[in-house]
Amino acid sequence: MDALLTGAVVLLLVAFAQCQDPEIVNDILPEVKRVGMTGKLNCTVARLGDNSVQWAFTGQTVSEVISINLNIQVLNPRKGGIPVYQVLRTDEPGDRVTFTLMISRLLPEHSGPYECAVQVANKDSSLWTRKTGYMTVQQPPMIKPGSTDSVKLIDKGENASITCDAFGVPAPNITWVRSDGKLLPNGKAIFRGRTLPINDADVNYAGVYRCVADNNIKPPAESLTQVYVFQAPSVRVLQDSVGQFANGRLEAKLDCIVQGYPIPTVYWMVIKGDTRQRLLNTEKFETTKQATDMQNLYAGEQWYTLTIKFVQAGDFQDYYCVGSNSKGENMTKVTLFSTWDCQGPMCYSLDPENRASRDPLSSHHTVLAVVAAVLSAAVTSQLFCLQP
Ligand SMILES: *[C@@H]1O[C@H](CO)[C@@H](O)[C@H](O)[C@H]1NC(C)=O
Ligand SMILES: *[C@@H]1O[C@H](CO)[C@@H](O)[C@H](O)[C@H]1NC(C)=O
Repeated sequence: MDALLTGAVVLLLVAFAQCQDPEIVNDILPEVKRVGMTGKLNCTVARLGDNSVQWAFTGQTVSEVISINLNIQVLNPRKGGIPVYQVLRTDEPGDRVTFTLMISRLLPEHSGPYECAVQVANKDSSLWTRKTGYMTVQQPPMIKPGSTDSVKLIDKGENASITCDAFGVPAPNITWVRSDGKLLPNGKAIFRGRTLPINDADVNYAGVYRCVADNNIKPPAESLTQVYVFQAPSVRVLQDSVGQFANGRLEAKLDCIVQGYPIPTVYWMVIKGDTRQRLLNTEKFETTKQATDMQNLYAGEQWYTLTIKFVQAGDFQDYYCVGSNSKGENMTKVTLFSTWDCQGPMCYSLDPENRASRDPLSSHHTVLAVVAAVLSAAVTSQLFCLQP
């Protein structure tokens, strides 16, 4: 009986002693705020008594005590009149007290765990009652210029890549597209990842690429990368031989199409023995560059035309279209040969009497045209007669 009583008393004492100890009654709710805003963490304590409440930042190897009760223990600069750290005390019903840690003008480095501890008098700090809450400081994405390409120079055939990097909280996702809406080198419209591969580089991959960093915190960040693909000129022709009639009044046009980067210099020449003879613009020759928005041109191609005026016997030879840039030189040959008849769309208007006298069919055409005109006049008048 005695033993039972003693046991009951001991239990009661233990319970009483526990009742005397302060307790952090609620979990500390996590706080998620954007950079520049104010974050708050609540620590609500029951049976605080004469004990003190401490807030500490425990996100580093050595935890840093920020406050004891209402007193700030760290450097606390004021920004715009408001201190970075503040602690508010609110007395709640039922012998509870809330200590609110407020951090103003949040910075990314304020992210992390914050521990509330009740310093119980005469107790080792390892026995203090504690709880931890998390502050997350969100930050919209920002491009890291140091690790983002703005210009990339690639040689044709090279395997290369372009990189875009950004920071932000949470860590942003990075996607790549082409500004002109063309497909990426991998044949897709969009690529997810920091580093976009450009394998077996080709002039078609030259242009502006856009990277977008997004972490759902508005606004997303963007950066542009200009890609240049260096390539020795390639030269192709539309026709490798062109004919004309040598009466000294007609002209011939030779076309060549040149691609390369840097934009090649293009000229025409003939080869006499061992020497190249570059054709300058004269009474005889004219080199022109055609508008480049022609449908049968590929990316970066330029169309050049050599006009040979007053074609005569001495002009029938090989002409070379030469493209050159810092990556090399290439050329293609076009042969001008003699025909028995005028060639090209200008023939009739250029030389009507000559053509008529040379071409007996032309007089037949004239007769046919007169007959057609008479017939159509007859039909027309017939139609008029039918009108009521
Ligand atoms: C924190 O405590 C204060 C004071 O009791 C209260 O007004 C506020 O709503 C609490 N905040 C949260 C997030 O619980
Ligand atoms: C990144 O993209 C993945 C897949 O679309 C998505 O689940 C995730 O939420 C994104 N992350 C951020 C920070 O927006």
